[in-house]
Amino acid sequence: MPNTPIIARTLASLHRARSDLGKRNANIALVPTMGALHDGHLSLVRLAKRRAKKVVVSIFVNPTQFAAHEDLGSYPRTWKADISRLASEGVDLVWNPDVKTMYPEGFATRIAPEGPALAGLEDRFRPHFFGGVATVVAKLFTQVRPDFAFFGEKDFQQLKVVTRMARDLDLGVRVIGGAIVRERDGLAMSSRNVYLSAEQRHAAPTLFRALKATSKRMRAGGDFRSALAAAADAIAEAGFALDYIEARHAETLAPVSSLNDGPVRLLVAAKIGTTRLIDNIKA
Ligand code: PAF
Repeated sequence: MPNTPIIARTLASLHRARSDLGKRNANIALVPTMGALHDGHLSLVRLAKRRAKKVVVSIFVNPTQFAAHEDLGSYPRTWKADISRLASEGVDLVWNPDVKTMYPEGFATRIAPEGPALAGLEDRFRPHFFGGVATVVAKLFTQVRPDFAFFGEKDFQQLKVVTRMARDLDLGVRVIGGAIVRERDGLAMSSRNVYLSAEQRHAAPTLFRALKATSKRMRAGGDFRSALAAAADAIAEAGFALDYIEARHAETLAPVSSLNDGPVRLLVAAKIGTTRLIDNIKA
């Protein structure tokens, strides 16, 4: 039977557990999550275990990164399954504050990230998002004081934003990205995939296929704009409403127009029904 991780719900219990874990200078890795864990999260936990002696996973559905019209209320919550998966992975500590612990009465401070947070990708469609993410991640870092923190590359712009923030604010944590984990048909794993109807689920891998086709055309010397336009058509034909499909510099997220401007990352976001999916690949 795997050991159930310690579960901390108050700052006092977190700090106690954190100082026990840190004894004998053991280094600590944090995997921040909003729960509803899937194999993508578990791959981050495994990376974390390879890097650090002790692994902390936070589970907190962060209200400040959801706009009023988004899915905060219906965001999947699968606590029991999450804990049993984390136990099987040998996670040491789960940090699971409630909203009042994270944002006590009178809370009035918000981080306003710039740089990669204003790249004109997710921020164009979710202007509230990175402020909420940066604020909660900065709090998670100061609460847990990890040496390493692991974020999935599926949220590619988020990974850049938290990496920049950790550096800019000297938070003393090394941010590491983990590769996207995909279903057999190519769909990037996401907690939101459970929202998809059977028909939408069938159409969903179109995003990955369109990214791969775009990369192939670009690598064959095709014109960037027409490769992206063909991908946009394929995505629309599959029933999506496209927010963007873009080629960006993989480090700066600046727009690029040739593979020579690279390393290049192709990024897409689109809605099918009411579910918004994002994905990205190396070009
Ligand atoms: O990627 C997520 O699950 C969230 O945005 C994060 C990083 C846990 C912050 O709430």
